[in-house]
Amino acid sequence: MITAALPYANGPLHIGHLAGAYIAADIYARYLRLQGKDVVFVCGSDEHGAAITIKAKKENTTPKEIVDKYHAIIRKSFEDFGIAFDIYHRTSEQVHYETSQEFFRILNEKGAFEIIESEQYYDQTAQQFLADRYITGTCPKCANENAYGDQCEKCGSSLNPMDLIHPKSTISGDTPVLKKTKHWFLKLDAQQEEIAAWLETKKDTWKSHVYGQCKSWINDGLRPRAMTRDLDWGIPVPPEIEGSEGKVLYVWLDAPIGYISATKQLFREIENNTTEFSYPQNFGPSLQNRKAEDWKAYWQEEETELVHFIGKDNIVFHCITFPAILNATGQYIRPDQVPANEFMNLEGDKISTSRNWAVWLHEYLQDFPGREDELRYTLIANMPENKDSEFTWQDFQDRVNNELVAAYGNFVNRVVTLIHKYYDGRLDEHFRKTQRENDSIIGKSILETEAAIAQNLEQFKFKEALSELMSFARAGNKFLADTEPWKLVKTDPDKTKDILAVSLDWVYALAIMSKSLLPKTAEKILDMLNADVQDNNPFNYQLKEEKLKSAQILFPKIEDEQIAFQLEKLNKSKQDKNEILKQVQNDDIVEKSEISNLKSEITYDDFSKMDIRTGKILEAEKVPKADKLLKLLVDIGMEQRTIVSGIAEHFTPEEVIGKEVSVLVNLAPRKLRGIESNGMILMAEDENGKLHFVNAVGVAPGNMIK
Ligand code: MF3
Ligand code: ZN
Repeated sequence: MITAALPYANGPLHIGHLAGAYIAADIYARYLRLQGKDVVFVCGSDEHGAAITIKAKKENTTPKEIVDKYHAIIRKSFEDFGIAFDIYHRTSEQVHYETSQEFFRILNEKGAFEIIESEQYYDQTAQQFLADRYITGTCPKCANENAYGDQCEKCGSSLNPMDLIHPKSTISGDTPVLKKTKHWFLKLDAQQEEIAAWLETKKDTWKSHVYGQCKSWINDGLRPRAMTRDLDWGIPVPPEIEGSEGKVLYVWLDAPIGYISATKQLFREIENNTTEFSYPQNFGPSLQNRKAEDWKAYWQEEETELVHFIGKDNIVFHCITFPAILNATGQYIRPDQVPANEFMNLEGDKISTSRNWAVWLHEYLQDFPGREDELRYTLIANMPENKDSEFTWQDFQDRVNNELVAAYGNFVNRVVTLIHKYYDGRLDEHFRKTQRENDSIIGKSILETEAAIAQNLEQFKFKEALSELMSFARAGNKFLADTEPWKLVKTDPDKTKDILAVSLDWVYALAIMSKSLLPKTAEKILDMLNADVQDNNPFNYQLKEEKLKSAQILFPKIEDEQIAFQLEKLNKSKQDKNEILKQVQNDDIVEKSEISNLKSEITYDDFSKMDIRTGKILEAEKVPKADKLLKLLVDIGMEQRTIVSGIAEHFTPEEVIGKEVSVLVNLAPRKLRGIESNGMILMAEDENGKLHFVNAVGVAPGNMIK
């Protein structure tokens, strides 16, 4: 059972969405289907919550108009990029209302809620309670007059609406009043022990950044969390429950239940033979001729493996809250894996919808029609699997031209072209029979590559899998360059035929192994080969006719002008952003330097992931042939670490020995000039560019800095 986060239907999709969750989910689902596994892969639009109502207000329209508009745009982008969901559903559907309300009833009956009364801001003119984002006021920490009820964007503090001085409703402009209200809180605290024990079992198999984030929530202690809101947009609390009037489910209660209602809907449609309405179907034989009731197996049977693909901002909801909800019902399974990705930045800046700092998928396809896999390739190669990553247009061009065009495309094209040239594209017995006895003459064998890709995909190492695939293509390309069949044909036609026959096997295997990573490319190759694919065994292919189709260019080169055009487009958003900044400045609210230089906001959890300790430099020496680097041996209390630091232009080795320093000790090891560096020394840079050690003088090595 594979799920991909339901995107909010409040804007179109951009590359960050694809890189964060959907490409990974798609590769994984395709891979498992190719293995003949019984797979269900669902997604849909998340249509409730303040994300939607705020957008509606901004566009001067209704939430319904917003979700209808963006649901269609999002669905189309997914379809265009070939994301192979079995169904793309939406949370405004009837079946979802029923399923969510049913969950609420069950949780209520099982005693999973407690009702807590509190005071919240209420807009008397608009006659409604105000979501945090609907209240602005003066920040108690920095006096910014335009802070929101949940956070101050100037100083980055996270706030409660009650913290604001002079609160104002953004709906009516009135000063809101406090009014008592009751809400249903999920008793997460009651499940603290159970969740902690369950998470503990994931310690070795979950990505460390995912496990780490969960762990820190657990360590902080779980608290009850409100699962209802006073709003008129959302799924009503079941009407028979006392006090339900005016209450809707919290969007983070109903949205993940959307995975389940999508699954239900899928099986209903399969039973009724109406599947084509939900999504261009991709499902394998295991989902054919199934009954509506069969959805249950995927959510309620222990042998089902449930995998949630999400971005890192969704971790707590998928690893703590939703599992707690599933568990409290006593009927549902919890996830086995939550392989969350981190974020992808764009040209040095955080992707932002409101600042239009994004590469929108529909715009990409206008500018690069038919080139879905080039983007997919670049996004996989830079996938933020374990840390934030970056998309730049230059890198896109380099990867397409130097990798896809020069290695992959070139190999396929040369093989098909040469077979046409020398043998009229015909495949006689000779071509059919070489059959991989000769496999290893090219280098790493097909089998080895296939196994390596499979192993990486099973561990959610998509970048690694892609790089295995590319080494395979490169080896093929190199084989041709070394054997030069275009020369050999004059002197040894038999050997030439051998070489091309083996190469053709390789092209076929390359296509089969590309099926999950680069599906559109795989299709193009198989079409060119006229292949009749029976199964996914790269050793077992049939050709429909004994002749190849003519060679097609798989990947045209990306020209400099195309890149310049994209950069210009982005720069335009940057200018617009500066316009906004200027206005803001004129209003005397925020100084430009503060906005442009401050990094984007992080949570306390982000900060707490850093293990920073006091240390002492024991030894230091210059790194040969590296002007900037010093190799240090640092005492960090429990052990001594080798750290390579870029401070050689500022300090001699003698100057730093004995220095007390601050060390980021859990930074992933990195090789610099062949030396593994295990951590980072923190430095302060002054306005003249001079570096100073950041230190706690007199504190022994190994103490925490927090
Ligand atoms: N709409 C949320 C977001 O874009 C994700 C919802 S995932 C689900 O961040 F589990 F709730 F569906
Ligand atoms: Zn502030």
